[in-house]
Amino acid sequence: MTIEAHNLTLARDGRTILAGLDFTAAPGQITVLIGPNGSGKTTLLSALAGDLRPQSGRITLGGTDIAGLSAPALAARRAVLAQETQVAFPFTVAEVLRLGIETRSHPSGAALMSRLLAEVDLHGMADRPYHALSGGERQRVQLARVLAQVHPAVTPQGPLWLMLDEPVSSLDIGHQLLVMDRARRFAAAGGGVIAVLHDLNLTAMVADQVLLLADGALLAKGRPAGVMTDARMSQAYRWPIRMNRAPDSGPFLLPQMAGAA
Ligand SMILES: Nc1ncnc2c1ncn2[C@@H]1O[C@H](COP(=O)(O)OP(=O)(O)OP(=O)(O)O)[C@@H](O)[C@H]1O
Ligand SMILES: [Mg+2]
Repeated sequence: MTIEAHNLTLARDGRTILAGLDFTAAPGQITVLIGPNGSGKTTLLSALAGDLRPQSGRITLGGTDIAGLSAPALAARRAVLAQETQVAFPFTVAEVLRLGIETRSHPSGAALMSRLLAEVDLHGMADRPYHALSGGERQRVQLARVLAQVHPAVTPQGPLWLMLDEPVSSLDIGHQLLVMDRARRFAAAGGGVIAVLHDLNLTAMVADQVLLLADGALLAKGRPAGVMTDARMSQAYRWPIRMNRAPDSGPFLLPQMAGAA
């Protein structure tokens, strides 16, 4: 069940944010949304999750317009990690995780919880107060909560979708790679992943498809090496950007100050 955007235009408060988007995101792949602050990545992810109605155009999931899907039907097809998540109550880590687990009444809640904690390297932290965790630890709890909702990757009704808005923004390099490796394994098991990332090197490493958003449009789409050219990246980020290429890997970026040779 692919996700397809057809001539999609998205608005916030009546202001058009993105116009005329056409793309496909396939299960089994990691699709990464990149673009500068305010370019509409979160807005697009909200629309793909069915939480924001398009101003015009449509989004289909397996050929069905998601505008016609009920909230329970959407919840059964995708799990979303928001860019920021507020936890209003003095919950423990286990209580936050149960919010995800209970959405899909798992027979083995306790075993699943301990496996999820281990997956995000928070083994033994179940009883810690959520508010007493570091920023990166909280981000990993939220990720575990979302992973709980897409277990396993493929159901009899089709693949599930993991939609992650900046899932590694607070994480050290080891945990960044741990999380993206988990996303990669979810995709390898047949699930679909759409992630927003600001780290362009991580993007080049993990993305099967990159969607570059800038100036109210989809500036480019495709494999990292095709999308992440000097000219396009410099245009999108309004800064001179020079991509490099290692012999055995994709493009990588060494940031430079304006005017540097
Ligand atoms: N709830 C909202 N109401 C009105 N305008 C909004 C709302 N959310 C976002 N916007 C505006 O829409 C545009 C796109 O915002 P969006 O959050 O999608 O950007 P983004 O690409 O995710 O940026 P960032 O990298 O900073 O997270 C911005 O100009 C923003 O100010
Ligand atoms: Mg955002």
